[in-house]
Amino acid sequence: MEITPKCVKIVAADEQGAYYARQSVKMMATINDTVACCTVLDWPRFQHRGFMLDESRHYQGKEFVYKQLEMMALLKLNCFHFHLVDNPGWRLQIDAYPRLTQFTAWRPVEYFWDWEVNETGGDFVDEGTPGAYGGYYTKQDIAEILAFAAERHIEVIPEIEMPGHNYETRAAYPELACSLKDGGTDKWELCPGKEGTYEFLENVLDEVIELFPSELIHIGGDECPKDRWVECEHCQAMIKSLGLESEEELQGYLVARIEKYLNSKGRRMIGWDEILDGGVTPTATVMSWRGINGGIYAAERGNDVVMTPMPLCYLNFYQTESREGEGLQIGGHIPFELVYGWDPYKGFSEQAKSHLIGVQCNMWTEYLKDMPTVE
Ligand code: ACM
Ligand code: ZN
Repeated sequence: MEITPKCVKIVAADEQGAYYARQSVKMMATINDTVACCTVLDWPRFQHRGFMLDESRHYQGKEFVYKQLEMMALLKLNCFHFHLVDNPGWRLQIDAYPRLTQFTAWRPVEYFWDWEVNETGGDFVDEGTPGAYGGYYTKQDIAEILAFAAERHIEVIPEIEMPGHNYETRAAYPELACSLKDGGTDKWELCPGKEGTYEFLENVLDEVIELFPSELIHIGGDECPKDRWVECEHCQAMIKSLGLESEEELQGYLVARIEKYLNSKGRRMIGWDEILDGGVTPTATVMSWRGINGGIYAAERGNDVVMTPMPLCYLNFYQTESREGEGLQIGGHIPFELVYGWDPYKGFSEQAKSHLIGVQCNMWTEYLKDMPTVE
């Protein structure tokens, strides 16, 4: 890009590059009100430049998403990771399973902390209940978000969590939980020992695939407790019939089976780094969040990797030492210098570097209930 007193000249390899050059002009004009004469030679270091928004803990809505997509485009971020489902609320219309949105998209209290820790209001309530907090995206909403994102060269990657982080799913469809005396309450893992679980996940993914064009589909995979699986007759029968050695391998089986399903539909799987635990195929993409080691390990064995280590890439940590005006955040102080000083290639061998496809920041909204705080 060449800016002279007479004109702005942009030469780009493709439409996306030209778009980003225009964003640079916009950014300079926004900051200074004038645009300085300059020459810029620029290209992306990474193909995946992501931002994740958690809409389960607190639902923000379409207008807020549009605003974030606009900001992403200005910052040349190109992957919007849409964390649509998790324990405190399901946020995506699924025609085959209406209770996910007619029931578990709504809770009696707004603030996640009251819901999760203080348990002031109970679990979920029916849509339309006076005072119900929540919401969800219809398929029409998603189509509009996708169009808005595409105009800004942003790909939307949906996340459907499995097998953990499924408290809400189990509240809507209790048969998806392990068969234990108290298996239907206060836990969040699906039962991988039941065929019905795979049928549910595949039916949901069918609708997700029909809606979202992204090649990568995020299947979560993080933080799944396995103690119930030890006690569950279905899980144990599955472990035995497959000749598996452990509950970790049972998660590995579920992940591999879902990956195969996605592949059969022409899509590829991406998941949090726990998908490595039970063995994962080389075609899966791994999101390294438990520090950087999972990402390095995955890249060394040939998997593509997105680095999003906690806490460096987590936006829900304090940014200042004083914490003044920051509201409640999830944890300690992550100064600006630390984040910007981090080299995503740190720890990667030369050969593994080619598998590092990008970086991402994540915004979890456990404590962040309103739009200004999230922003
Ligand atoms: C995560 O932060 N549990 C991926
Ligand atoms: Zn089970």
